[in-house]
Amino acid sequence: MQKLITDRDLKNLWQKFFLEKGFKKIEGYSIVPENDPTVLFTTAGMQPIVPYLLGEKHPEGNKIFDVQRCLRTNDIDEVGDGTHFTCFEMLGCWTLGECNKEEMVKMSYEFLTSKKYLGIPKQKLAVSVFGGDETMPADTQTANAWKKCGIERVFFLPKENNWWALGGGVGPCGTDTEMFFDTGKAPCGENCSPACDCGKYIEIWNDVFMQYRVDNEGEKPKLLAKPNIDTGMGLERTVAVINGLKSAYEMGVLKQAIEFVKANSSSYVERSARIIVDHVRAATFILGDERGVVPSNIGQGYILRRLIRRAINHSRTIGFDSQKLISLAEMFVKEYGQDYSDIASNLNKVKEELEKEIQKFSKAIEDGHKEFEKALSGIERHKLFAKEGEKVENIISGKTAFRLYDTFGFPLELTKELAQERGYQVDEQGFNECFKEHQEKSRSLTAGTFKGGLADSGEQSAKYHTATHLLLAGLRSLEPDTMQKGSNITNERMRFDFNFSHKLTPEEIKYLEDFVNGAIQKNIKVVCEEMPLEQAKQQGALGAFSNKYSSIVKVYTIGNVSKEICGGPHAKNTGELGKFKIIKEESSSAGIRRIKAVLE
Ligand code: ALA
Repeated sequence: MQKLITDRDLKNLWQKFFLEKGFKKIEGYSIVPENDPTVLFTTAGMQPIVPYLLGEKHPEGNKIFDVQRCLRTNDIDEVGDGTHFTCFEMLGCWTLGECNKEEMVKMSYEFLTSKKYLGIPKQKLAVSVFGGDETMPADTQTANAWKKCGIERVFFLPKENNWWALGGGVGPCGTDTEMFFDTGKAPCGENCSPACDCGKYIEIWNDVFMQYRVDNEGEKPKLLAKPNIDTGMGLERTVAVINGLKSAYEMGVLKQAIEFVKANSSSYVERSARIIVDHVRAATFILGDERGVVPSNIGQGYILRRLIRRAINHSRTIGFDSQKLISLAEMFVKEYGQDYSDIASNLNKVKEELEKEIQKFSKAIEDGHKEFEKALSGIERHKLFAKEGEKVENIISGKTAFRLYDTFGFPLELTKELAQERGYQVDEQGFNECFKEHQEKSRSLTAGTFKGGLADSGEQSAKYHTATHLLLAGLRSLEPDTMQKGSNITNERMRFDFNFSHKLTPEEIKYLEDFVNGAIQKNIKVVCEEMPLEQAKQQGALGAFSNKYSSIVKVYTIGNVSKEICGGPHAKNTGELGKFKIIKEESSSAGIRRIKAVLE
């Protein structure tokens, strides 16, 4: 039996190892992405690194590592099983502009097996490498490097397994080699390999050889001028697996948090405790972030509100005083403040905002109970005044159940439970229909400013944001395959990066100014709609389609000039923008141009 390695140990070992190898430590980025309109939260360690993987110089040099807080809500329903999380941490390491596969394999092997680091016996490891297809040969170089280290189980797997790209396939990408821990389970059959999910092999680390880039979805990958290595290790999962634990909740601060919930709840249920711990940790990450948001009804604030309220609901279920969620948050601030300085300095904000939301929610629940009683009296009254032969059933309509959910925060389960106590049923199908309808409707149409992934959510920056959409449309009328590669907006100016075949000529600059000003003069309404990603794509909406937090996206349409997937905020009408003027055009990196512009 190996010694136990906690999450803190693993972070420390990661740091020690890469410092020793001459890498520079960078602080993880904000969990609220900057200028990436396609995602609400940072979903992977490499996501904030994309510009550098595409060639931009990193101020810390070309060998860097970090630990990155990430958040994804696509697995939210699985949280509670012990292996899924909304928030997690990813250990990352990058070599920018260099891709020495053999060296990376050697380093990975050393970190995994050396007694100074993880000390995993090499017999417990298996790896996979790219098996080749009609476009690219098998990665025998990497396979040989592993064999040279003494790893016997090297699996050649297809592109499906050993090609890595962000969701949607756009961005830097390439073949990878994945490292697996053998749990000791018997093989599930003759063809058992890391590609099957029988549980024998669990992935702990991924080295991506980023030698390609894809600029538009569906395109063939193009060679990157400067290749890179991107590696990522999921902290929670790795800690659980290498210690032979069933879940990461059995160790470190997560274990401490679970024990706290257990000790303070009257009818403990493990699943609920895990949901509470996961969601409060996520809320602490979001509230404690330098670009943190507070609970609201839109965008990131909405996700935050849902996480907190879900934690409160589960607290009620197991008789855990929701005030104690604040103590849990304190526990997390203490732990993660060590890695993320903003979390440490935002302790009071985290506590205050949680307190406010707990109060708001309990008031809503109280009002909801009244509403529930009203609904029941309505049905009873209907019975009294029913026409002859008319049968009034004890059913709470889907619409009422949805209103209780949407306005008063009642989960469907709660409504069902209350209904049952009174001999009523709930029209669940009706509820689900209302739910779906709501999802597809724009939440932000009436929602005022969107405190989103932009540096500033003021009115002026919203105008600049709209101007970037118009500018992109103008650029695409010059070169149809132009895409946004980055944007940075302040109240004073906009900066916009895009791929383009050449330096813009003075005539082209004039054309773009006229194009944008033409759209401004037409006073075009800016319309926002929420829709499933698939539908947005079908409508031809532009977007990076990178890792998305959910399958529902916002689409901003400006007449027939522009249609983009985007988090907002935007001006309501192009007429508000003033006069658009380009003040600079320059190179940003290979194949990428940059425009600085102002609205006068
Ligand atoms: N970017 C790679 C991953 O997320 C390392 O697996």
